[in-house]
Amino acid sequence: MDELANQVAVVTGAGRGIGHAIALKLAASGADVVAVGRTMEFLQKTMEEVRKLGRKAWAIAADVANAASVEAAATEILKDPGRVDILVNNAGVTRDGLLMRMSEADWDAVLDTNLKGAFLFTKALSRAFLKQRSGRIINVTSVIGLRGNAGQCNYAASKAGIIGFTKSCAREFASRGVTANAIAPGFIQTAMTDKLSPEHKEAIAKEIPLATLGTPEDVAHVAWFLALPASRYITGQVLCVDGGLDM
Ligand SMILES: NC(=O)c1ccc[n+]([C@@H]2O[C@H](COP(=O)([O-])OP(=O)(O)OC[C@H]3O[C@@H](n4cnc5c(N)ncnc54)[C@H](O)[C@@H]3O)[C@@H](O)[C@H]2O)c1
Repeated sequence: MDELANQVAVVTGAGRGIGHAIALKLAASGADVVAVGRTMEFLQKTMEEVRKLGRKAWAIAADVANAASVEAAATEILKDPGRVDILVNNAGVTRDGLLMRMSEADWDAVLDTNLKGAFLFTKALSRAFLKQRSGRIINVTSVIGLRGNAGQCNYAASKAGIIGFTKSCAREFASRGVTANAIAPGFIQTAMTDKLSPEHKEAIAKEIPLATLGTPEDVAHVAWFLALPASRYITGQVLCVDGGLDM
């Protein structure tokens, strides 16, 4: 069914992993997609796949951590396709290390991309959302933002920040029919978790009640659900997609 027909979805970090799966899931449901990411190379592929599904697609290379870059991307989006109905702030990075040894640069890089990036993109498109009096903002946080994790104080802080940011947006935009929700994936098989050793992954799986890592499609399913017109009465929520890890 084309529940998202005639809607435009902007997905950051859409070149691979979870963002790529979200872009395709929304397109499969009828949405046209603006794929945003650091490099055109991967975005091009996403764009071709969206077009194969019969939807319109645009690719914009932008650094979500850079205000000028985000402003330029937003201006381009509001020119063509000229509107936005769904914004998925998904772009994210890790720079892991124990707190005592963590450099200021590693702290800043993670906070700038994961948290400031969502702020910049949401702000740049907020006027359009408020004017049209409808919209879905979907921010990708992490169970690490809820539980913390040794070696990830920068990442956990950025993801916990996303949750507060999401709830504040939900409150600010509610009167205009714009919802803001967060998805908290657990451990999902992507390039981000490929960095973990097989032993580490096995140890993680033992902690997960459903006993396995998730897939990008598991997360995309929930993004799709939150984007649906029928989800209009859900806002300010954090939905875990984690095999039961955080309960
Ligand atoms: N994989 C997991 O287990 C997991 C768990 C919880 C949350 N998450 C979150 O899900 C999101 C996607 O992660 P993933 O696993 O698909 O990782 P990934 O590394 O495969 O993809 C991240 C994407 O973000 C893009 N990106 C990074 N920095 C950017 C920047 N400054 N500007 C524009 N684009 C940028 C990358 O180019 C890439 O396409 C991230 O926010 C991540 O924190 C992932």
